[in-house]
Amino acid sequence: MRKNIVAGNWKMNTTLQDAQALVSEIVNMVQDEATGSAVEVVICPPFPLLPVVGRLLPEGGQLHLGAQNCHQKESGAFTGEVSARLLASIGTEYVILGHSERRQYFREDDELLSQKLKAALAAGLKPIFCVGESLETREADDTFAYIGKQLKEGLFHLSNEEFAQVVVAYEPIWAIGTGKTATSQQAQEVHAFIREQIARAYDAKQALNTTILYGGSANAQNARELFSQPDVDGGLIGGASLKSRDFVEIIKSF
Ligand code: 13P
Repeated sequence: MRKNIVAGNWKMNTTLQDAQALVSEIVNMVQDEATGSAVEVVICPPFPLLPVVGRLLPEGGQLHLGAQNCHQKESGAFTGEVSARLLASIGTEYVILGHSERRQYFREDDELLSQKLKAALAAGLKPIFCVGESLETREADDTFAYIGKQLKEGLFHLSNEEFAQVVVAYEPIWAIGTGKTATSQQAQEVHAFIREQIARAYDAKQALNTTILYGGSANAQNARELFSQPDVDGGLIGGASLKSRDFVEIIKSF
């Protein structure tokens, strides 16, 4: 059966000192408050902080390490880039791919994302693949068609075995960093749609086993309601993952 996951995407925030303090607080709270094994927690700090944060996560525990991006090539002359192999070699387990900020600001399209997915999977990383519509698309009633296309072109080229490693995140762009969360009903509708598309592209078992996260202004107040939806298996958390108390409350919301 699929896992519940709460992943914290720190984006381009924190310094070394902030990261050490934040992750130590999270580790202590998670241990003291026995948040249980019902949910896997993934921390996704900026690249240079991965080894530092990784060392602070108790081995074999509930907390896991994730990156926010990787390059599509295995190695080579790509100044400033980071390979999936390097990420795996320093203990990274997950990698976020296709985040709307990468699609928008770094012009990442489905073709490039397909290559990144392949590189991540070849290195043994588990991709957290993001999809989500803009406000304009939602208001034009095109949400399902748009997300269906993102899934088809970005993800469904993977084999069954490859797809089994993927976590999908639904992140409506209009909800990211805006304080405007999707209602639990809006989230559930899209999550159910995503699961149905997975069943069509693969099979019912693959669909049932795929973890689908919600992201976009999720916080300690609304997480319980969102996570109670049948097809919402956890969250990809931005702003609230930078506050240890808020993040741990979200973890405890199952
Ligand atoms: P916020 O939780 O800050 O809205 O960000 C969501 C997000 O983009 C996580 O990847």
